[in-house]
Amino acid sequence: MCGIIAAASNRNVGKLLVKGLHRMEYRGYDSAGIALHQDDQIAHLRTLGKVKLLEDKMIEEKPKSKLGIAHTRWATHGEPSEENAHPHKSNERIYIVHNGIIENYLNLKEFLKKEGYAFSSQTDSELIAHMLEFFLNQGNSILDAMYLTKEKLDGAYAIAAIDKEDDKNIIIARSKSPLLIGIGTDELLAASDPLAISGLTNEFIFLEDGDVAQISADDFKIYDDSKKQVEREITHIDISHEASSKGDYRHFMEKEIYEQPAAILNTIDGRVGGDDVLDNIFGLGSSEMFSKVKRIQIVACGTSLHAGRVAANWFSAISELPTQVDYASEYRYKNPHVDQDSLLVTISQSGETADTLAALRYAQEKDYLSSLTVCNVPTSSLARESEYSIFTNAGPEIGVASTKAFTTQLAGLMLLALSLAKSRDVNPKLRTRVITAMRSLADTVEETLKLKDEILEIAPEIASKDNALFLGRGIFYPIAKEGALKLKEISYIHAEAYPAGELKHGPLALIDEDMPVIALAPESEIAEKLVSNLEEVKARGGTIYVFSDPSISMELKSGRIIKMPKCDFLLTPIIYTIPLQILSYEVALLRGTDIDQPRNLAKSVTVE
Ligand code: G6P
Repeated sequence: MCGIIAAASNRNVGKLLVKGLHRMEYRGYDSAGIALHQDDQIAHLRTLGKVKLLEDKMIEEKPKSKLGIAHTRWATHGEPSEENAHPHKSNERIYIVHNGIIENYLNLKEFLKKEGYAFSSQTDSELIAHMLEFFLNQGNSILDAMYLTKEKLDGAYAIAAIDKEDDKNIIIARSKSPLLIGIGTDELLAASDPLAISGLTNEFIFLEDGDVAQISADDFKIYDDSKKQVEREITHIDISHEASSKGDYRHFMEKEIYEQPAAILNTIDGRVGGDDVLDNIFGLGSSEMFSKVKRIQIVACGTSLHAGRVAANWFSAISELPTQVDYASEYRYKNPHVDQDSLLVTISQSGETADTLAALRYAQEKDYLSSLTVCNVPTSSLARESEYSIFTNAGPEIGVASTKAFTTQLAGLMLLALSLAKSRDVNPKLRTRVITAMRSLADTVEETLKLKDEILEIAPEIASKDNALFLGRGIFYPIAKEGALKLKEISYIHAEAYPAGELKHGPLALIDEDMPVIALAPESEIAEKLVSNLEEVKARGGTIYVFSDPSISMELKSGRIIKMPKCDFLLTPIIYTIPLQILSYEVALLRGTDIDQPRNLAKSVTVE
């Protein structure tokens, strides 16, 4: 989704800003642009498509500048085009970049049109440039103009603006959309994502909602919502080059799939001891709080929601707690009834997903016992606003399609199920069994990755089809859903998932030789039932690909059975996810799609 980078420096900033845009490409975008202060003028370049095209334009025009703002846009209001790309400007004076959505933009646009402002884009963002200029023309300073503009805006925003009349300062503002300051050696920077400026600094200041800041090459001042100058904490984050580069892999997604054994170890490391989970790993006082929990409400989006659906089974089986799982985008619109002693659990890779954050903020007004997040980014809004948290420590995930974030979320959620059970003093033997299995989980994942050669043999058969059906039962239904999501996200093959027992209630009508069926058959009491469901597919000439426990016997006329490594049943959802990720990746590779940045999708969805 949209990305902002801005720099005020003692050296030229053109290259540095473009490099920052490249680093944010993983978020998903459709156009890019830059505005650079140059000899009392502003060089303004925008392109539709990849940042590389903007870079080519920069090489051609060679603008030199020590102050600038740049942006990658993911279209919300108005189609992807050069005119709609940021920065937007007002009367060749004010240039702005914006992330988020201005909800009252139609009214504000009307107001500005009456004041004589002409709009050259279909975006909601352009009005911010005009509004700032409108207030500047009334004799306000840029700082005051930003506060007056803020008063008018409803919605979410991170803004960076420059004024042609001022070649020293950048003004930035944040409300419900991430924005931070980076303290570099030769410059001060602003960005929506620490990764964008990670090569230039490891010292970041995360702005709070309502903050406005003024940045020059050597100094910065932060003001809170009431315009009082404030100090904000400096956070030190080391983002290693290795973590944010592809290395020898063809795509970030491929790298992230094969990083999973190490990532899972990082999630578990230091959180289990002896044959149980350690106390208070979700924050001081969490173990005591857990003993009071009577019910769990999970909210999340996309892949993270699938992790929540698996975890609901664990909370029931291990912690003996009822759990409700909702799409974050739906949760607050259903007027949820909140039982006292309910724990709200949010799950998010980025910690910035607008719907999940909005659900947390909505829930904080309700009668929940507490809130807890399972998140990969410790500095994210979700991490800062939740009472308790566990960080999955998976390292930066760059590929839009989530892989290691998902399996580490599952590992973190299993730790939560065990911690709840420990605090509630239930299932001690089961806890020991699971902890023992968790200790060898990374090795089992490593072994599962070796299935790649077998998967390579079936990938061409799936890649030649336009549809696919995924089947799973019980705890494997969410894994089937995750498999279908991965395949459609990166290969653009239409894929659906069903609990296998539902097959005969509709989807069976779709079965023919062009509808591959991918089934998950781990060893369990429902495996036999699943085998019967697959017989129904076989009888109708469907091709079946089964990932199964070695103990399951089945004969197929067409398709293939791939035997999975042995693992404790409760952890099998993590293991069975791996071949589905590899399959999607290899199919997408054959279909030649843009795997790390699939069309229309964004990594971090910061608009509702
Ligand atoms: C986007 C990403 C998905 C992700 C979802 C939720 O749609 O493309 O991969 O699962 O957002 O993101 P979160 O950061 O909250 O896990």
